[in-house]
Amino acid sequence: MALKKNILVIPGDGIGSEVTTWGKAVLEQIAADYGHEFSFDDALMGHVAIEATGNPLPDITLDKARQSDAILFGAVGHAMYDNDPSLKVRPEQGLLKIRKELGLYANLRPILLFDELLDASSLKPEILKGTDILFFRELTGDVYFGEKSRSDDRNWASDLMNYHRYEVERIARKAFQAAQARQKKLCSVDKANVLETSRLWREVVQEIAKEFPDVETEHMFIDNAAMQLVKNPRKFDVVLTANLFGDILTDEASQIAGSMGMLASASIGEGTGFFEPIHGSAHDIAGQNKANPLASILSAALMLEIGFGLKEEADRVTAAVDEALKQGFRTGDIANDSTPADKILGTDAMGQKVLEYLKQQVNA
Ligand code: IPM
Ligand code: MG
Repeated sequence: MALKKNILVIPGDGIGSEVTTWGKAVLEQIAADYGHEFSFDDALMGHVAIEATGNPLPDITLDKARQSDAILFGAVGHAMYDNDPSLKVRPEQGLLKIRKELGLYANLRPILLFDELLDASSLKPEILKGTDILFFRELTGDVYFGEKSRSDDRNWASDLMNYHRYEVERIARKAFQAAQARQKKLCSVDKANVLETSRLWREVVQEIAKEFPDVETEHMFIDNAAMQLVKNPRKFDVVLTANLFGDILTDEASQIAGSMGMLASASIGEGTGFFEPIHGSAHDIAGQNKANPLASILSAALMLEIGFGLKEEADRVTAAVDEALKQGFRTGDIANDSTPADKILGTDAMGQKVLEYLKQQVNA
């Protein structure tokens, strides 16, 4: 069935616009092939929005976000803020605010390992092979959103870590449902030996687990999970965790997939779904046509599948990415010493390759 959807593109900062160009191009190609009507608008967020309006999330961006059916997002951030912690208005505030305003409490981060990239990781291929993990990172609570304070003499600071039962319940249910449709294994990661928020987390997850007796549930401390993830990543199926732990663990897990440049994510909950790479704005390579567009392209695939329920279309996109990799094409971040120079592509050439393979599938 042909669908009509309004998609908001928020390129953001740094390499954001270079990569979302390709996520969008892939969506346009899919729309053309399947007769869907996707219309696109764009909006500012992050450093570029601060420069233009003084606000990292201008009202107009939020309005457009609420009115659209899905959002394709690039990245936010700029080195000038990282080097000056005293700056009060910061690009990341835009991202945190839009997550909160849209009620996007569940961040799904699939660790999708393409066999062709087994040797792009710094981990041993025999440890990695067969890994398939789906992270559920809580996204609108935790220390990210707790009260922040600083003493008048500036010598003391505090970030409150807090969770309410309902915040744990709703993401836990989503994660258990996903586990049911996968290998029926869920690992909940916390620090219940130290943190009261984690003890609440564990209590609630244990309760929700009773609703899903067919799912094998395990609880693991974050320090142990960080270790197990690189020791034996295959043991994980669905991993459920809090905001901060999930932020850290998924960057670690990106090395299983070879590079941060490969991982896409979907943030869902109450409002418009938000689809983005897990990587940042990478100012060191911005504007140089070096960034890996595959995470944005795979974010577009997640939009098709999770946002619009278009599984077949999503699989086509993933297959086109797979084909580009099978043909040996690599961006710098996933190349290694044995990659022939003529196979190392810039952002645009890699995006073109994926588009080419998408078109070939239709004509095949
Ligand atoms: C992410 C990012 C963000 C986060 C930053 C940019 C605020 O690291 O999406 O993982 O910490 O959530
Ligand atoms: Mg992060």
